[in-house]
Amino acid sequence: MLDRLSITNFKAFATADITFGRYTLLSGLNSSGKTTVLQALALLRQSHGTLDEEGGGFLLNGDLVELGVGQDILHENYVSVDDAEPRIELTLQCGDESRSWAVGYEREADLLQIRDRSHSPVEVRSTSLFGTGFQYLRADRISPAVSYPRSHEVAIRQGFLGSRGEHTVNYLRHFQDEPVTDKRLHHPQSRSRGLLDQTEAWMQEICPGVNLQTDAIEGTDSVRLSFRFGTAGLSASNRYRPTNVGFGLTYVLPVVVACLTAQPGSLLLLENPEAHLHPRGQTAMAMLTCAAAAAGAQLVVETHSDHVLNGVRLSVKERRLSAEDVVLHYFRRSTDGIEILTPTLGSDGMLSNWPEGFFDEWERSLDRLLD
Ligand SMILES: Nc1ncnc2c1ncn2[C@@H]1O[C@H](COP(=O)(O)OP(=O)(O)OP(=O)(O)O)[C@@H](O)[C@H]1O
Ligand SMILES: [Mg+2]
Repeated sequence: MLDRLSITNFKAFATADITFGRYTLLSGLNSSGKTTVLQALALLRQSHGTLDEEGGGFLLNGDLVELGVGQDILHENYVSVDDAEPRIELTLQCGDESRSWAVGYEREADLLQIRDRSHSPVEVRSTSLFGTGFQYLRADRISPAVSYPRSHEVAIRQGFLGSRGEHTVNYLRHFQDEPVTDKRLHHPQSRSRGLLDQTEAWMQEICPGVNLQTDAIEGTDSVRLSFRFGTAGLSASNRYRPTNVGFGLTYVLPVVVACLTAQPGSLLLLENPEAHLHPRGQTAMAMLTCAAAAAGAQLVVETHSDHVLNGVRLSVKERRLSAEDVVLHYFRRSTDGIEILTPTLGSDGMLSNWPEGFFDEWERSLDRLLD
């Protein structure tokens, strides 16, 4: 499991130390550094093939993240030792192993080369970050579309849903009958353990009666997703293409599939699983993400939703996930940069403290309404 990431001079942070649990929730104001943490991890994975090569380093633009060039990622007020050339450094800790990668700064380069190779300490090959079962779903995910890509290599062989979830439809088409193995992930109303049935059952938490179908479009490299609506006993609707059924269903599909297919040792980085969902659906999605953690995956979830937070608290209170597995980080800007506060969650779902600004808007609004 990934236990800690230390960051020096990367994007929003001059320095930062972020600890991870089996389930880590990143919250805080906009532009407070949450995605920067996920991008640092994604950057390491994206660069993995070159990190150990001579001349290799951080590949700033790739399938997971497109960060630009050196000047985009070097923290504006960077720290450096004795006015030396600035370094951008990321350190991972997994159990008692840790490893740092420090790259030199080049203003216009999109490959920043590793410095001091000889000082590399222990390998951290075991981390889920570099293994199979990794998913990173960005906030700018797939929107409803007429067709989606069909890549056997990415979706089937690598089992990667795409950083925008763009390979999810093809993945679901291929693996729709594969059983969801861990029963903690099973939805009680699902017709079977099969991935498609389980996906539908969880999607019905968001939209009751929804059914999914995936098809290859003959003669093309594309696949199609369609939705049908109808509850038991009532005749089903026609099939509708995603562009005609609103945003939420398509947008959340990769999150549902990522959680249902998570295995022990998987690492899921999820940005805003709540996006475009109504409040009850947001809580349901949080419960599903917690089920994936209980099933043995590690999750780092960025959210703005108090319903997601409450879904996590309920999962803990209802004994679906252990309180020790949950780490809550609240990012906020201060005069000294970004500070990260970490209230602890008790087994009763209650928090040790509520920092100002941490999901307190309900209370603040109520105070004004009742004034
Ligand atoms: N090179 C840089 N130097 C200093 N700060 C930077 C640099 N690049 C980005 N930032 C800061 O990082 C912020 C964006 O951080 P990030 O994307 O992690 O925010 P976030 O907390 O995920 O926000 P949101 O809630 O909107 O998703 C920018 O507003 C900017 O202030
Ligand atoms: Mg963000």
